[in-house]
Amino acid sequence: MLLEARHEDGSPMSPQELRDELMTALVAGHETTASQLAWAFEHLSRFPCVVERLVNEDDDEYLTATIYEILRLRPVLPNAEPRLSKRPVNIGGFEYPPGVLLLASAFLVQHDPDIYPDPYAFRPERFLGSSPGTYTWIPFGGGRRRCLGASFALQEMKIVIRAAVRRFALQAAGDRPEQTGRRSITFSPAGGASVILQERSPRAHSDARELAGVA
Ligand code: HEM
Repeated sequence: MLLEARHEDGSPMSPQELRDELMTALVAGHETTASQLAWAFEHLSRFPCVVERLVNEDDDEYLTATIYEILRLRPVLPNAEPRLSKRPVNIGGFEYPPGVLLLASAFLVQHDPDIYPDPYAFRPERFLGSSPGTYTWIPFGGGRRRCLGASFALQEMKIVIRAAVRRFALQAAGDRPEQTGRRSITFSPAGGASVILQERSPRAHSDARELAGVA
C-alpha cells in the first residue's frame, strides 16, 4: 500500500519516506503492543481465576477491563513524551518557566494509591463499569496529542488474548513474577514472559502452531 501511495502532486513516496513509515510501524506499533501482550500473558499465567473468567465471558467487558489493568500496572512506555514549555505554566501549584521539559509519568500516576487503592495488585475489576480516567490512566499518553495507534493496539490485544486463553490453559514457567527489563524502547518482562501453554482440546497442528508463537 505504501509503495502504491501517491502524494498530492502524484509522486510516489521516496525511499526515505518509506523507510520512516516502516520504522514508525515497527518501533511505535509492533514493539509496544508485543511487549504489552507479553506482560498480559506473564500476569494471566499467575491468575487462573482471571483466565477462567475470560474464557467463560460472552461479551468483552471483563477482557477490556483486564487489558486496561495490564496497561495501568505495567505501562511499557513508563511516561508520555516530554513536553517543552513555551511560556510560564503552573501545574499543581508549581510554576515552570519557558524552556523546561515536562514529563508526565504514567507509571507514577497509575500507581498513586489515592487514585488506585492497593495499586500494585492486579485487579481487572477496577475497570468494570467505569472507563479509565483521561488524566489518571495515561499508558498512551494524554491530552490533545497522544498515541496514534491506541485503538488499534487495544483491538489487537483483545483478539490475541481472547484467542489464546480460549485455546490454551496458561501456567507460569517460574515461581516469581518477572522483573522489568529494558527491551529497545519498551519496558518488558525481563525473562521474556515464559509461559507454559497447554492445549485445552486437541486441535490441528497447524492452528496450534500459529497461536503458540503468540505467547
Ligand atoms: C500497547 C501498545 C502501545 C502503547 C502502550 C503505546 C504508547 C504510546 C505513547 C505513550 C506515545 C507517546 C504519546 C505522547 O506522549 O504524545 C505513543 C505515540 C505514538 N504511537 Fe503508540 N503505543 C502503542 C501502540 C501503537 C500502535 C499499534 C501504533 C501504530 C499502529 C502506534 C503508533 C504511535 C505513533 C505514530 C505515535 C506518535 C504520535 C505523535 O507523536 O503524534 N502506537 N504511543
